[in-house]
Amino acid sequence: MSEQQNTEKKLAGQAAAALVQDGMLVGLGTGSTVNYFLHSLGLRVKDGLKIKGLPTSERTAALCHELGIELIDFASVDKLDMAIDGADEIDGDFQMIKGGGGALLREKVVASAADHVVIMVDASKRVKTLGQFPLPVEIIKFGHQQVERRIQEMGIPYAMRLVEGQPYVTDNGNYILDCQMDSITDPRALNAQLNGITGVVDNGLFIDLCHTLVVATGDQVETLPKP
Ligand code: 5RP
Repeated sequence: MSEQQNTEKKLAGQAAAALVQDGMLVGLGTGSTVNYFLHSLGLRVKDGLKIKGLPTSERTAALCHELGIELIDFASVDKLDMAIDGADEIDGDFQMIKGGGGALLREKVVASAADHVVIMVDASKRVKTLGQFPLPVEIIKFGHQQVERRIQEMGIPYAMRLVEGQPYVTDNGNYILDCQMDSITDPRALNAQLNGITGVVDNGLFIDLCHTLVVATGDQVETLPKP
């Protein structure tokens, strides 16, 4: 990651933390931009901000514990006021690819439960057409070879996500296939097609799940409503 990209992530994270209001139940995403956001949010909590967070990963939960951000789980809430997360790609209609950090399933569940979803990105994440970033597809372990066959039949090049030579296992106990699409002309249709494969739990296409985009370009931060 370049120094500029890192600075932009930090600025976007700080700006997003300022959007959180007293009393909110907030979905907390996963990733390096989210980590900057959580550090800013943690400072506001130390200054007296009263919020409760619902984390999208074990990593985010661990950081929240360190920072003194109180957490809740789904058993104790019907819905969230806001969810705040990063993205791997976002297009002009605010459709996204997420899941580079492997937390796509919980991120999508949490975003779907929120009244308002804020996405924070550095400028490199904005694209005309989704698909350069490999699309993560979360699949169950049992019979994963069958799911892989179906993806192959669709003509999609993919790779099993690995960590130290072994399949990466999500917080939900599943595998991830990273699918190299290059250009996704109809994200809505592809989302439905992939999720229609038995054994696919979900995929990293986030359709109509961003209401506000916080984007940092150099030292400028813009907060944009969904077009
Ligand atoms: C994790 C995600 C992240 O939001 C996405 O990968 C962006 O991460 P980063 O902020 O580190 O660039 O979807 O599953």
